[in-house]
Parts: sequence; structure tokens; C-alpha cells
Amino acid sequence: MYDFAPAANAAKPELYSSLARAADALVQGEPDAVANMANMAAAIWQFVPDLNWAGFYRVVADELVLGPFIGKPACIRIPFGTGVCGTVAALGTTQVVPDVHAFPGHIACDADSRSELVVPVLRDGKVIAVIDLDSPTPGRFDDEDAAGMQLLAQVAALAI
Ligand code: SME
Repeated sequence: MYDFAPAANAAKPELYSSLARAADALVQGEPDAVANMANMAAAIWQFVPDLNWAGFYRVVADELVLGPFIGKPACIRIPFGTGVCGTVAALGTTQVVPDVHAFPGHIACDADSRSELVVPVLRDGKVIAVIDLDSPTPGRFDDEDAAGMQLLAQVAALAI
């Protein structure tokens, strides 16, 4: 049994560093990428409040393909450059989207989503996946969430 839990009322930097440590422990010694993405998605869901979707899209050939996640069923394939995830895959940079309705080409998978944070998972300077968080709250994500999820992406880069 794994018994990780965020400290009550932890500030974001502390919350995300404990999430990264939990993720690191979860993937230790396990080479299976699907298992590791599934456990990391579950850990995000456990640690990060106010989400309606959290998970992975992997780069397969020249598009993004849905990976392990928590939330409602989502669109399976996203071309590079399309929507928030496809933009992150194309540019290799994090996107914090305070209002998804204002993002050109945003792909609505869950009508509840109001704001979104997508970070690239980089290996050898190339995007191998993205981690996508959606929230029902407008403006839910800030630079501290982005920095925290980039820590998790570094763990993921070695585990998927
Ligand atoms: N909204 C994303 C698509 C993925 S879902 O939110 C799970 C986008 O615009 O790329």
C-alpha cells in the first residue's frame, strides 16, 4: 500500500515538491511507462486540489495520443499545434491558460473545464509527452503551479 498525502494547507512550492518526491518513490525500480504514468496521474489527483482532469498525452509519431489520466473520457489524438496540449508539444514550453474559452483552438474534452495548465515532458531536449491539468475554476493555475508541475515532468522524463 502506498500512503502518500499532501500536508494540510501546504503552500504550493511545498505541495509540489512533496508531489514530486511521491512520484519519484512511486516509479523507483519500475520500467513500465504505462504503470508509471497511471500512478503519477493518480498522485497528481491526490495532491493537487480543484481539478476535473489530470493526465498524460504521449508523442507517438507526429501527434499526441491519450495516455493514463483521471477524469472524464477525453479526445484521443491531438495534432501538434492544435489546442493547448498540441501547442505545448509544438513549442516545448509550458502553457498556463486562465480562460480556456479565450485560447484559440482550445479542445473542449470536458465542458466543466475553465482553466488549464500543460507542461512538456522533455527528454534530450525533445518533447516526449505533455502533462495536462484542467480545473473547473477560472484562473486556477499560476506560475507556482507551472514550476511545480515542471518538477513532476522531470520525474516523468526518466520514468515513461
Ligand atoms: N483541452 C486540451 C485537450 C485535452 S483535454 O483537456 C483532456 C487542449 O486544448 O489541448
